[in-house]
Amino acid sequence: MISYADGRDAAEELDRDDLFAQVRERFYVPADAIYMDGNSLGLLSRDAEQAVLHALDEWKTLGIEGWLNADPPWFYLGEELGKRLAGMVGATPDEVVVTGGTTVNLHALVATFYQPEGERRKIVINELDFPSDVYALEAQISARGGEPERDLVKVRSNDGRTIAEEDIIAAMSDDVALVLMPSVLYRSGQLLDIERITQAGHERGIVVGWDCAHSIGSIPHRFDDWGVDFAFWCNYKYLNAGPGSVGALYVNRTHFDKQPALPGWWGYDKDRQFDMSHEWQGAGTAGAWQISTLSILSAAPLVGSLRIFDEVGIDRVRERSLALTDYLIELVREGGMLDDPYNYAIGTPFDHARRGGHVAVEHENGAQINAALKSRSVIPDFRPPNVVRLAPISLYTSFADVWDTVQALRDVIDTGEFRRQSDRRGVVA
Ligand SMILES: Cc1ncc(COP(=O)(O)O)c(C=O)c1O
Repeated sequence: MISYADGRDAAEELDRDDLFAQVRERFYVPADAIYMDGNSLGLLSRDAEQAVLHALDEWKTLGIEGWLNADPPWFYLGEELGKRLAGMVGATPDEVVVTGGTTVNLHALVATFYQPEGERRKIVINELDFPSDVYALEAQISARGGEPERDLVKVRSNDGRTIAEEDIIAAMSDDVALVLMPSVLYRSGQLLDIERITQAGHERGIVVGWDCAHSIGSIPHRFDDWGVDFAFWCNYKYLNAGPGSVGALYVNRTHFDKQPALPGWWGYDKDRQFDMSHEWQGAGTAGAWQISTLSILSAAPLVGSLRIFDEVGIDRVRERSLALTDYLIELVREGGMLDDPYNYAIGTPFDHARRGGHVAVEHENGAQINAALKSRSVIPDFRPPNVVRLAPISLYTSFADVWDTVQALRDVIDTGEFRRQSDRRGVVA
């Protein structure tokens, strides 16, 4: 591994030899900026662009016939994309479907899998969770006649950054019906041990689901081996499928006999959907949890984007991601930036087994540092109270980009330019 002392030349050298240099060429990487926000919105690839143009062309030429005659046919596109994602998450092809949005899929799955009974009424989450999940779960509890104040248990963090797995397991008491955790915490980037927590839940008769928004496309998953009950995610972060693109869900096949609690005709048995019967006949696969007609134009980018993942493989993506985040963390540490006058802190676990795809760089003037970086065309994002999130993306971030980003972190303090920025975050941070 190259270090701070090796300088920028060593990073450039590594980039020259890198197999990924060709992959980077397939993306619209801004020429005059360093994009470190692919964990919020991945960049457009030429493959994804082509797939959208192809879908538009098919709409132009085929009209309604596109449902069966497009390539791939729109009618089966959610299932087709699910099949292509299945390998990445360790599932069989019929356990994954591309549909809905992250929070919509959470509602559809939790409405089905949260079955409060007698004393078993609680849902365990954690206090560092993404807010949308909390809003949705509170509403799900209320809809079942429960009280969020009492029935939503938030596992506390010991350090404000991470959640101890022992504490999640300790919260699995007899009155818990469901545990819903993020695979990777959105702020600190901590990766939880999905297998350990899932199995601990099952040993106690608890259903365990996962929000994988921050791990899909960055980390390999083995849902079937781990016994995960259900999972959901968005495709617009590491999977580069575009702003607001369609999300995805996984249902373990042992649950295929369950009745989706929020059914819609798109989850119907495909061969009989157009019988227009009022009697529900679910698809008998994860596809049964679809609700509405798939947005073809918002799913199309994924058709192209997954081509890149098929070629590169998620294991190599993960390996390079760890090398990039190792390098970022080392540059901050070896560059003396944890000390005065910089006073940065790293909020992400160093241990590979506990680290997701981004690095949380903390600073008491985080909002101003974030704005100062942006004014230098280094694009991170800010999460209150003090986190500048930096995501070097395997498919298109170079080691030299990481070097330059860390130099920018240093320069905005050396020059005092961060002080000229507002300490209020932007409307979209
Ligand atoms: C961890 C996590 N969960 C849920 C969401 C909500 O996603 P959506 O707007 O697609 O519902 C996000 C969005 O960034 C997220 O990061």
